[in-house]
Amino acid sequence: MDVLSRPLIDRTLPLLAEGYAWLPNRMRDSTGPVVRTRLLGRPALALRGPEAVRFFYDERNVRRHRAIPEPVLATLFGHEAVHTLDGDAHRARKALFLPLLTPDRVAGTVERVTEAWDEAVPEWSRRGSVVLFDEASTVLTLGAHRWAGIPLDDSDAGAVARDMIAMVDGFATAGPRHLRARRARARQEDRLARLVRDVRSGEGAAPADSMLDLVCRHRDADGEPFDEKKAAVELLNVVRPTAAVAWFVAFTAHALHRWPQHRAPLAAGDPAFTTAFAHEVRRFYPFAPFLGGLAARDLMWRGEWIPAGGLVVLDVYGQNHDESLWGDPYAFRPQRFLERPAQRDELIPQGGGDPATGHRCPGEGVTLGVLEALAVRLARLEYTVPEQNLTIPLNRVPTRPHSGVLLTGVRPPA
Ligand code: HEM
Repeated sequence: MDVLSRPLIDRTLPLLAEGYAWLPNRMRDSTGPVVRTRLLGRPALALRGPEAVRFFYDERNVRRHRAIPEPVLATLFGHEAVHTLDGDAHRARKALFLPLLTPDRVAGTVERVTEAWDEAVPEWSRRGSVVLFDEASTVLTLGAHRWAGIPLDDSDAGAVARDMIAMVDGFATAGPRHLRARRARARQEDRLARLVRDVRSGEGAAPADSMLDLVCRHRDADGEPFDEKKAAVELLNVVRPTAAVAWFVAFTAHALHRWPQHRAPLAAGDPAFTTAFAHEVRRFYPFAPFLGGLAARDLMWRGEWIPAGGLVVLDVYGQNHDESLWGDPYAFRPQRFLERPAQRDELIPQGGGDPATGHRCPGEGVTLGVLEALAVRLARLEYTVPEQNLTIPLNRVPTRPHSGVLLTGVRPPA
């Protein structure tokens, strides 16, 4: 019998039903931090822990080409996106995103996003109530467009933000949410492909060295410039995840509501505490459940074997809640990062390894910078959290506080 079709029962359906809890539950039942199972019709090995991170991000072990299912490409990442490449092709494409790692770019993004936030707050005050998740996604979308050099009228920002959010919201599900995600991607890829065409023909302008400019001029490993669709896909790979920081903003509001003792130190703007708080939000709350790749050759990990072509799964949510790493993983405790700084391959909400050479998220610095700035602004804002459903269902991927965090009586800081 072909080794790829051995009769381990396929666990794709239980995974979809249990969401974030599925892999940690299986890990709990296993003897070590490794689980053998079957997913998407393939044998699969799930791993966690800093050593597992290094194993997973070693290209001799795990490759990304053909690892990501079509429904995820058609919604979250885009076809032929950087996420799907290995080796030289990945290195050449990743070069496009490396400027994001520089402090200057991070500061520029933070400036644009906070400017959009400060413009929006007086309007929230005039309205009786606002849903923070929706408002934050609009602010982030506007800020991301401004720093990337992509034109966007303020009046269109809400609709574009809804598309950005839909692409993330619908990647791991079937039905209407998924269809909405596919339509949102098609709409936004068309819009940005037209823009790239205009810039190249001289009808539009791209500010020098903006992300739009870099994408229009980029050459891949084959020396060829992007076609317009690929350019649109990679532009979306900076704008969409920046808008997705709205999930962490909603989680921040949830944390401030549940544990109000953190509001004063955050509002005081102490940089060390603010960073620790942002790390704890990214560790504690569920966002990316796991990451997957294909075994590049027959592999052994902790006595478990996986054949070439099998799925290797890094248990992101499980690792961020692993008792052996965090001691009290289900306590929301920013202080843990003051006691011991975040270690590269321990805290992995945005992947592990080195972002310059591997697939780790190049937007982690941007995420942290933006989240810190908005968390401080949120802590300084006056508002009321009326009775609402703030539960965060773990069987929904991605999840968020059910109400999106309704705020009333918003008043800017004096
Ligand atoms: C990759 C999470 C924000 C750009 C990733 C990966 C994760 C992730 C889990 C995959 C890592 C892997 O495959 O090993 C997040 C989360 C974010 C966020 C939770 C905050 C909400 C950002 C931002 C940007 C960005 C703000 C850009 C400004 C990218 C890109 C990749 C990526 C381009 C692909 C990297 C590659 O394949 O080499 N992100 N990210 N992300 N992220 Fe982020």
